[in-house]
Amino acid sequence: MRYAYFTLAFLVVLTVSVLGFRGSTFTRPPMMVFPDTFFPEMNHQAKYKPQASSTFFADGRADRPLPAGVVSRNPLRDDDHLYRGKTANGQWAKGFPAAVAVDARLIARGRERYTIYCAPCHGALGDGKGIVTQYNWGAPANFHSDVFRSMPEGQIFDTITNGAKTMFSYGDKLVPEDRWAVIAYVRALQRAQNARVNDVEANHKQELGIK
Ligand code: HEC
Repeated sequence: MRYAYFTLAFLVVLTVSVLGFRGSTFTRPPMMVFPDTFFPEMNHQAKYKPQASSTFFADGRADRPLPAGVVSRNPLRDDDHLYRGKTANGQWAKGFPAAVAVDARLIARGRERYTIYCAPCHGALGDGKGIVTQYNWGAPANFHSDVFRSMPEGQIFDTITNGAKTMFSYGDKLVPEDRWAVIAYVRALQRAQNARVNDVEANHKQELGIK
């Protein structure tokens, strides 16, 4: 019988301690197990809460407005083409943003990033036959179809940024500049599998027996 009372008392304490204070908010500082006795003033420091009022500043606000001429640490990102792959009227942008120089350096960077982030699925050639397909995983897009040859660069940018259909996004792994580098490399891969006679420079045509 005594144990029954003990158990009941224990259950009451447990219930109250687990459920009794749910949702309560406390305005006073929490109990301190080891208060700072050397610097007691460190225990409870004066502070303003967000959006509180202040008698110190003339405008009565604790939150201070930004000083005039302040410069954001983050880029403004108002270039739609560069950061969203879109034109001013919301269409998929074609071609590369003016701020991105399409040169050998960009393509080399794109090749490196592509090999890390895209090739496991889309394959080193961009033919959709990456290593994952050997494990029966999904059906990554083959970039050598007309759909992807003519897909606007901005839409590929958006696919990398946000993902598309069953493909996850890679926006957290590739900064915008690197996304454009990857796109440049995808274009190079496409070109490599779809070369035309006229892509051969005149002085090499003869070697290949082309008139
Ligand atoms: C984990 C595997 C995987 C990786 C890594 C991957 N993709 Fe994909 N991707 C897919 C799959 C699967 C599809 C087909 C989605 C569908 O049709 O449902 C696809 C589709 C696409 C498409 C076509 C989207 C559409 O609208 O049809 C593009 C473009 C693309 N990927 C680009 C890339 C680029 C660029 C990278 C590297 C940054 C990349 N993917 C990395 C799996 C992947």
